[in-house]
Amino acid sequence: MFTISEKTKAFITKEVSRYETKRSAIIPCLFELQKDNQGWINNDCIESLSQFMNIPSKDINEVFHFYTMFNKQSVGNFHIQVCCNISCHMNGGLDLFQVLSDKFNIKPQQVSKEGLAISKVECLGSCGTAPMMQVNEKYYENLTKEKAIQLVNDLVASKKQN
Ligand code: FES
Repeated sequence: MFTISEKTKAFITKEVSRYETKRSAIIPCLFELQKDNQGWINNDCIESLSQFMNIPSKDINEVFHFYTMFNKQSVGNFHIQVCCNISCHMNGGLDLFQVLSDKFNIKPQQVSKEGLAISKVECLGSCGTAPMMQVNEKYYENLTKEKAIQLVNDLVASKKQN
């Protein structure tokens, strides 16, 4: 059974107290749980959350499977989310996705040997700085293909140094 960290338990307890019903806190609690499990959630995580929140796991699963921002499999050390919605698409978002996939040999729904995962995502709310991508929790904006490749190279190199 997945063990929820003390920090996440404290977050959940506080979050639940902010709402009239516990169900209303499922989204932020799933987010925190996702961070707790290196960026993704499996059945074990859901069961632990269900027990801790005292909410049936089917209720949590409904939310978990509805929203695409919850990752259903490992996203490695670096989850690259390339926005392909209208502003980013018009400014080369799809090209960016393809170039990064090819350059770093990242297959959809897989983690590369460098620990990279990549997803096409809908608008991340930074349309004025298109094209952009998010890596883990950080935004990278006004990208060119060259800038994006350099950024990912730097991230991989920084991980090797640690
Ligand atoms: S369309 Fe890419 S951030 Fe909105």
